[in-house]
Formats: sequence, C-alpha cells, structure tokens
Amino acid sequence: MTTTDTGVRSLLYLACAVAFVVGLHLMNSPRTARRGNAISAFGMGAAVVIAGVHAAEAGFEWTAALVVLIIAVATGALIGALTGRRVKMTAMPQLVSAFNMVGGGAAALIAVDETLRASANAAISAAVPTALGILIGSVTVTGSLIAAGKLQGFVSGNPIRLPAHRMLEATAVAVALLAVIWSVLTPDGMAPLAVLVVSALSVGLLVVLPIGGADMPVVISLLNACTGIAVAMAGFALGSTIMIVAGALVGSAGTILSVLMGKAMNRSIASIVIGGFGVGGEASAEKGDAAGTPARETTADDVAIQLAYAHKVMIVPGYGLAAARAQRECADLGNLLAERGIDVSYAIHPVAGRMPGQMNVLLAEANVPYEQLHDLDGSNPEFPLADVALVVGANDVTNPAARRPGNAVSGMPILDVDKAKSVVVLKRSMGHGYAGIDNELFTEPNTTMLFGDAKTSLQQLLSAIKTLVA
Ligand code: TAP
Repeated sequence: MTTTDTGVRSLLYLACAVAFVVGLHLMNSPRTARRGNAISAFGMGAAVVIAGVHAAEAGFEWTAALVVLIIAVATGALIGALTGRRVKMTAMPQLVSAFNMVGGGAAALIAVDETLRASANAAISAAVPTALGILIGSVTVTGSLIAAGKLQGFVSGNPIRLPAHRMLEATAVAVALLAVIWSVLTPDGMAPLAVLVVSALSVGLLVVLPIGGADMPVVISLLNACTGIAVAMAGFALGSTIMIVAGALVGSAGTILSVLMGKAMNRSIASIVIGGFGVGGEASAEKGDAAGTPARETTADDVAIQLAYAHKVMIVPGYGLAAARAQRECADLGNLLAERGIDVSYAIHPVAGRMPGQMNVLLAEANVPYEQLHDLDGSNPEFPLADVALVVGANDVTNPAARRPGNAVSGMPILDVDKAKSVVVLKRSMGHGYAGIDNELFTEPNTTMLFGDAKTSLQQLLSAIKTLVA
C-alpha cells in the first residue's frame, strides 16, 4: 500500500463527501430534491465500493472482501428498494425511524468490534469515541424501535410509564455515563462493555416510552441526529474520514430539523423529551359547539358556488388531508379552479401534518405546481385578499387562540386563515387536532364547516363545481 494509493483513496472519499453535501443542498427544494437524492445515493454507493477496496488492502482476501461487499450491498439495496416502493406516504415517519435504528445499530456494532479488538493501553483518543459510539448508537436502536412501534401502532401511542419510571430512567442514564468512563479507563474490558450496552439500550427504551405518539416526529428527528453522531464517533474510532463527514452531516441536519420543528410547534426539545403534551392526537367530538358557540354547517353545493365565483382561493392542507389520502382530489380541485382563471395557492404550515414537509411531499406527489405552494411567511399577507380559505383537514395550525397566552397552542406561529373573507373547513367533526383544544376559527362568523371525510368532501365539491359550470 503506497502513499499515492492512500492519497488517491482520500481524494475519492472527498469526492463522495462533496456528493453528500451537494445532494443535501439540492434537497432544499422539491424541484431539485430528486436529483439531490440521486447524487447523495451515488456518493454513498461509491463510498461503499471504496471501503470494500480498502478492506481488501487492510488484510482481507480480495475475494472474501468482494463477496462480503456484494452480499451486503445486494441485501441492503433489495430491502431499501422494496420498502421504498411499498411504504405509504403516511407511514414514512416509521420507515425513517426503522432506518435510524439500523444506522445507530451499525455504528454501535462497529464501536463494539473496535472494543473487542482494542488493547489494554489503547489511546484515549480512540477509546472515548468508541465508548460514545456504543452509548449513542445503542440509545438510538431502542429509542427508534419504540418510536417506530408507536407510529405503526405495535406499541401504544399513549405515554407508557413503568412503576418508578423517572427513577429507573435516571439510574439508567447515570449507569450508562459511568460505564462510558469505565470503558475509556479499561478499553479492552468486557465487563464495562456489557454494562454500557445494556444500560444504553435501557436509556433509549425508558426515554421514548413515556413520549406521546404525536410527538414522535420530533423524537425521530432527534434520534436521526443521534444516528449521525454515533456514525461520526464510529468514524473517529476507525479513523474513517468519510464516516466522520457523513455522520456530522446527518447529525447537524437532524439537530437543525429538530430545533426548527420545536420552534414551529412552540415547544422546547426538552419538554418533548421529558414528555406530557401531545398525548393522544385527535380527540373525537360530535359535530356541534366549540367554546359554547355553535359552528355553521354548510353543504358541498354552497361551497361549490363560493369557490366557482371567487377570484382568489387559498387551500390550507393539514393532517386530515394525509389521513384521508385526499391529495389527488385536492390537486384536481385546485386545477379545476385555476382553469377557470381563479388565483389558487396552497398555504403550508411547517408542522402541518405529522412529519416535516409532509404536505409538500403529498402535494408534489399529486403534481401540484410548485409555484402554487407558499410557506407561512408567504401566505399570511395573502389571506386578507383571499375570497375563500379552504381548510382541508387542518386544525391547530389555523387556531387563532395561538395569538393569546394560556393555552396549548399559545405562541405557535399560525396561518392567518381567519383573515380571509370566507373560510370553509373540511373535516369530519368538531374534533380536536393534535393539541387537543377547541379551534376558535370554527365558530368565527366568516367560517362554515363542511363535515365529512376530506376525500369524499373534495369529490363532492369537484362534481358540484363541474355541474355548476357545465
Ligand atoms: P391537526 O391539528 O392534528 O388536525 C387534524 C384534523 O384533521 C383533525 O382535527 C381531524 O378532525 C381532521 N381529520 C382527520 N382525519 C380526517 C379525514 N379523514 N378527513 C377530514 N379530516 C380529518 O392537524 P394540523 O392542523 O395539520 O396540525 C398539525 C399538528 O400536529 C400541530 O399541532 C403540530 O404541532 C403537530 N405536530 C406536527 C408535527 C410535524 S413535523 N408536522 C410533528 C409533531 C406534531 P376530525 O377528527 O374532526 O376529522
């Protein structure tokens, strides 16, 4: 192995790292996201091949390295392709969580392997990242497993607390931290390794169990950041620059996303991890009153008239759109109105739905033109100009109660839907959203409610407008 070979390999790894960064940057916009994904995947594929060649140089037989590489890549690619094709958009958060579990587990296993091969006098610069890699990777494994289970419904979405839960949690955290120190002081020790693995797995379990199902997207984003950090630690332990770069990118992207989500929900990350709010999702209620004032019910025919003769319509999608899988009907309605010369736009709140970017992805899947999608800041000045704001399965992100203190959504930035000349809300009942409180928008004098499943209501609106203008 010559210096030139090492130099060439480093340059190739650098090219892979550049592909990751460029790919991530392109994911900034839905228009370029697909290309960004392809570039990052290419970088990752190339890094795997270079790692295989490196393994051969590091002492493996060429054939053995090739066989291991081919089996690993083929298995991973097959599982990835099958799950990617089959998973529904609404099940994406649990898929991401499962991927986090695999990533964190792989990083932890690499660090465990390093410990098994370490000598008693291993350098502290290697022992520290190895121990941290095991700690963070193991926490990610069980945390992500529970998070995925809660979202998929295998584990109850309600907070689960064991007897003396807080004490158990604090003990597990303390033991795990002490085990890290013990492992660093005894880099080849099997006892500290075992204590570290068991306590870290327990921490992941005990921290995520009491968190409500609706908070899971933020937890998943945090665990994603943990996966990145664990991979970077394993990279330090192995002396692999590409793992450090990839891990740091994932770690920082996950952290930024968690902070942004926390801000858009007006919740601190600490309050989410400690648990409490967001216990049960949509509490169901009968059609009727919110805060004692009756809501006005409307019909598809009346809404069709309002929409067909409007100049400007703003559509506000929310979790109910995803739950009803009504994105295509929503896009069809938008297109039908746009064909009539009506100014149609979609107002997208950063945390509408149950995962970051869920509305953008759903609407992009239904081929809604990107230029019709507007974020919170772009939409709010437009609401006073809108003839109709059509709220499709959104609730909390439109609640004017957020503008005053003392309730569960206080301080949360909202879409100023109530400022539109007329507001029509499509949902099944007066049921609550994720925050579990009444929405004052529903009883405003300019609001009418079109009760029903969002998909059915949109279909009714489509046919009523077509009949009207035929
Ligand atoms: P929500 O406030 O959760 O309200 C969704 C509404 O959809 C419910 O009130 C429900 O009312 C309605 N709905 C459910 N199924 C429906 C169907 N088949 N047809 C029609 N309507 C249906 O949704 P939102 O406004 O999108 O707000 C999101 C909330 O989730 C925020 O509080 C946010 O903080 C929280 N959250 C978001 C994220 C991310 S990253 N997006 C992560 C964690 C938490 P009915 O039962 O009456 O139909």
